[in-house]
Amino acid sequence: NKIIHFDSIDSTNEKAKEYALQGEKEGLVITAEEQTKGKGRKGRDWISSKGSGIWMSILLRPDIAPCQAPKFTLLAAVAVAKSIQEETGLLVHIKWPNDIILNKKKVCGILTEMNAELDRINYIVVGIGINVNQQENDFSEEIKNKAISLFEVKKSKISRQNLTRRILTNLEKYYLNFVKKEDFSSILKEWKELSCNLEKEVKVVLNGKEIEGIAKDITEDGALLIENREGKLIEICYGDVSV
Ligand code: BTN
Repeated sequence: NKIIHFDSIDSTNEKAKEYALQGEKEGLVITAEEQTKGKGRKGRDWISSKGSGIWMSILLRPDIAPCQAPKFTLLAAVAVAKSIQEETGLLVHIKWPNDIILNKKKVCGILTEMNAELDRINYIVVGIGINVNQQENDFSEEIKNKAISLFEVKKSKISRQNLTRRILTNLEKYYLNFVKKEDFSSILKEWKELSCNLEKEVKVVLNGKEIEGIAKDITEDGALLIENREGKLIEICYGDVSV
C-alpha cells in the first residue's frame, strides 16, 4: 500500500479525492495527525485534533455498479470494529449505518464518498475517523455526551500505528473477498453480529419525519428494516438512528 501521511491537512477525504482525480491507483491511503476541516456525514464537522486519533482515507476503484457503493461502508465498519476488538480487547458495536459504538458512545465514524459515471464506479473514498487517545477533557462540552475514545475505556495509550496497520490488513481481506468472490453475505453476517440495533426500539428521522419501531433486519443492500407500531415493515436506506 502507498501511504501518504500529513502533519496537518484540511480533510483526508478531500486529499484522497484529489489524488483519485489525478488517476492514482486504488489502495492509496491518506493519513493525518490533524484535520483542520474534518468532515462528518450530512455536512457536519468532524473534530480531528492533533495526534490523538486516526484520521484516514482509503481510495478504492472496484469494478462494480454504483448502487453497490453503500456496501463498502458496511464492509469498512466490520473491518474497523473487528480490528478495534483484536487490538484492544474492547467490545464495540456497530450502529446503523456506520457508527462504531463503545459504552453507548461514538468512538468511530465512517464517511464514504463516491464518484461514478453512468453504470460504473470511478472511485470510492472510505474515510475513517477513530477517537483513540483523547482524554475526557479533550472533547468539547457539546460532544462529550456523544463521543468517547478508546483510551477512556482501556485506560492506557493505544498505538495508532498498530491499529491503523491492522485495519488496513483486515479491510483488504474483506474488500478482496467481496470484489473477487462477490461474496457479501459473510460480511453481512458479521455486521449483524456486531449490530446494536437489531430487535431494539429505534427512531429514525427520514425527510424530517420520525419513524419509530423495532429494527428487524438489514437487507442484502444494507438498508435497515423497521417494523412500526402497526406491524408494517419499512425499509430505510439513509438516515440517523437514535435510541
Ligand atoms: C460521521 O460519522 O459523520 C463520519 C465521520 C468521518 C470522519 C473521517 S476522519 C477521516 C476522513 N476525513 C474526513 O474529513 N472525514 C473522514
